[in-house]
Amino acid sequence: MALKVAPGPKLSERTTLRLGGRARAEIVLASPEDAHGLADELARHDCRPFVLGWGSNLLAVDTDLDIAVVSLEAGGPEIVEQQACCDGRSGEKVFVRAGGGLMLPKLVNWAAKLGLSGLEGLAGIPGTVGGAVAMNAGSYGRETGELLTRVRLWDAKEGLRWIGPAQWSARYRSFAVDGVAPPWLVLEAEMALESASPEAVRAAVDANLARKKASQPVSAATCGCVFKNPEGHSTGKMLDELGFKGKSLGGMCFSPMHANFLVNEGRGTAKAALELIAKAREAVKGRFGVELELEVRVVR
Ligand code: EPU
Repeated sequence: MALKVAPGPKLSERTTLRLGGRARAEIVLASPEDAHGLADELARHDCRPFVLGWGSNLLAVDTDLDIAVVSLEAGGPEIVEQQACCDGRSGEKVFVRAGGGLMLPKLVNWAAKLGLSGLEGLAGIPGTVGGAVAMNAGSYGRETGELLTRVRLWDAKEGLRWIGPAQWSARYRSFAVDGVAPPWLVLEAEMALESASPEAVRAAVDANLARKKASQPVSAATCGCVFKNPEGHSTGKMLDELGFKGKSLGGMCFSPMHANFLVNEGRGTAKAALELIAKAREAVKGRFGVELELEVRVVR
């Protein structure tokens, strides 16, 4: 199948923070192999590729952007291999493949139904599989990178290929591919899960979803946590102590529920968001002597 090209969407309509100007084009890949035609298409539009995924970890600036949004069809999930475990205590190892465009909650639910354990901590993360890999998304003690066995990557120089764990470094909310500078795209991912009882997996998923709902503004227009937690510190706690919970500027605010979540109250702008971010950074530096690092990805 060939890739399809559509007019560039407004990022404010495709990001959960509801911010961002217009992209130059949208390129839709029906299958990973369609990536073979990407370089030519990008050259035609004279811009870089950008996968929005769910658009949930992005702060896009208000002006138009020289990017082509690359959208991926869901793809999978499917079991590609099963291996009996040798120690007799753990379950069978089950290798699973999913497309970069697949919604992570879909994968989590599918795994729960089949009794495949490993993804429970990632329940409730509003992202695609590709986004979760690219950010090494994590929660409740689980990071995407720990599960990965192979990633199908595309970049303009080397094209489409599978890479293994020796070729990447997955750290706290970051995934770097050795010797490959961004932009690169995640077309597919394979991960190792473990067979378990569907009831136990479902119970863990439900417990994590409930924890998330109780402590995070899951239905607001947010981009999740704005800042990383510096070693030994909780950014939410520091911002809360400094009075940032609910602090509002130009239609943007820090959530009244969790001080590290930025929320668009309806008419916010990226300009206001960046101003609030700067204020928070300055206050934390002043009081705690800690330099906050952005967790959200700024698209400009
Ligand atoms: N806290 C406050 N006030 C607040 C927010 C938090 O006092 O306004 C306190 C909490 O009571 C708790 C501590 O700070 O004692 C930590 O808060 P929480 O458990 O909510 O976790 P977090 O460190 O703020 C991290 C991740 C989340 C992830 C959760 C659950 C980061 C930056 N954040 O949040 O990830 O969902 O743990 O594992 O690592 C994201 O990546 O976007 C994200 C939301």
